[in-house]
Amino acid sequence: MCPPTHFEVTYSINPWMDPTKPVDLPLALAQWEDLRDRYRALGHTVELLDPVPGLPDMVYAANGATVVGGRVLGARFAHPERSAEAVAHLEWFRRNGYPDADVRVPEHVNEGEGDFAVTASWILAGQGFRSSPLSHGEAQEFFGRPVIGLELVDPRYYHLDTALCVLDDARDEIMYFPDAFSPGSRAVLKRLFPDALLVPAPDAAVLGLNAVSDGRHVLLPQAAVGLFEPLRALGFEPVGMDLGELLKGGGSVKCCTQELRAAQEQPAAQGG
Ligand code: ARG
Repeated sequence: MCPPTHFEVTYSINPWMDPTKPVDLPLALAQWEDLRDRYRALGHTVELLDPVPGLPDMVYAANGATVVGGRVLGARFAHPERSAEAVAHLEWFRRNGYPDADVRVPEHVNEGEGDFAVTASWILAGQGFRSSPLSHGEAQEFFGRPVIGLELVDPRYYHLDTALCVLDDARDEIMYFPDAFSPGSRAVLKRLFPDALLVPAPDAAVLGLNAVSDGRHVLLPQAAVGLFEPLRALGFEPVGMDLGELLKGGGSVKCCTQELRAAQEQPAAQGG
């Protein structure tokens, strides 16, 4: 996570961003600290990335890289306003012991976990607004996992993580907002995830899908009131968060959270 020390909305690269609307910075910081503290209270380790002046969107740390099995695919941003963030993320990984061989500086535009979602069987990959479809092949080759491209069609849902959320990455369990996807991609989602939780428009419209699940707790925007009961019915524990100030930049819980998926431990060798 990266604190919103320099957060502001001075440019607009998605329909949520209105530079004429003031941002309450102390409130943004307090809301972000709440999220960080909630992760810690749930027993998760939170690593921090130093915020850089002049990079107001850096608080949306999910976009800076994708980490699967301890390997890091760096980001390459679609908009010049954010391009320097990618370097800060790569430096963090180098400083924190990720060997160069496991870190890839990408060839094609990809906005990290904004557009890559990791399930048990696949990596789901958004295209249409930010990440290039060419980045999907690059991710597949680098991670050695099948990458499923999904076409986003509504500018309010410009990143995959605004329209789809992985609930249990050990079981291919997701929730998503069908209208954010093209007809073909909707059919793909239906085929791969016949039991997915389909999210209604009002909950999607408050970025209710921009959530993080640890397989049990689902941290999500508290305004997504329609999701709490369905999540409980599926056995999850919803945890409502207020990140209202960060919504002004077009992000919420998931955008502020990059997941560091470690290498799976090798099963112990069978002794003879
Ligand atoms: N203002 C940022 C942008 O438009 C918000 C990014 C939100 N992050 C995310 N993972 N969806 O790029």
